[in-house]
Amino acid sequence: MRNNRKRISKKVSNKRAVSHYGADVLDSDGHKKCHKYIQHGDTSVRQHTTSVAYVSVALARKTHLKYDYSALVRGALLHDYFLYDWHEPHHGLHGYTHASKALQNAAEEFSISPIEADVIKKHMWPLNINPPRYREAFIIMLADKICSVKEAFGKPIYNQKVEEILDEHK
Ligand SMILES: [Fe+2]
Ligand SMILES: [Fe+2]
Repeated sequence: MRNNRKRISKKVSNKRAVSHYGADVLDSDGHKKCHKYIQHGDTSVRQHTTSVAYVSVALARKTHLKYDYSALVRGALLHDYFLYDWHEPHHGLHGYTHASKALQNAAEEFSISPIEADVIKKHMWPLNINPPRYREAFIIMLADKICSVKEAFGKPIYNQKVEEILDEHK
């Protein structure tokens, strides 16, 4: 596997990193469609996944390790790319099955790297039994849980930053 890991310059904000590395996903019709599906509370899947991307970049930078930031951001944006309303009763097994569905949908529309595939497939660990293999997947698994809890309690994290990113990709 080609290694694209690096550190991001301190001059680049977390918001700029998400907007830059996630541009093709954020600009796609598919990801825009995720705005009509609610994830938790009042937060749409598009807002949730953008918030996970933002928190993932922030967490990754705190570790001072090198990351594949393209895979980190794109993986975060696509980790819940299941494209349905999971609140409908026939999606009762959503918690267990949506990671595989998200990967299948993402791979049909985007060129998905091995790290991105791992991010999407393993983000529900430990509910899904296989643990993340790459550090990018581990960071996103954590960021997803932080964002999900905040959203479920009606206090989505970095709300303003997320809206600014989405405004750039209308
Ligand atoms: Fe998920
Ligand atoms: Fe999620």
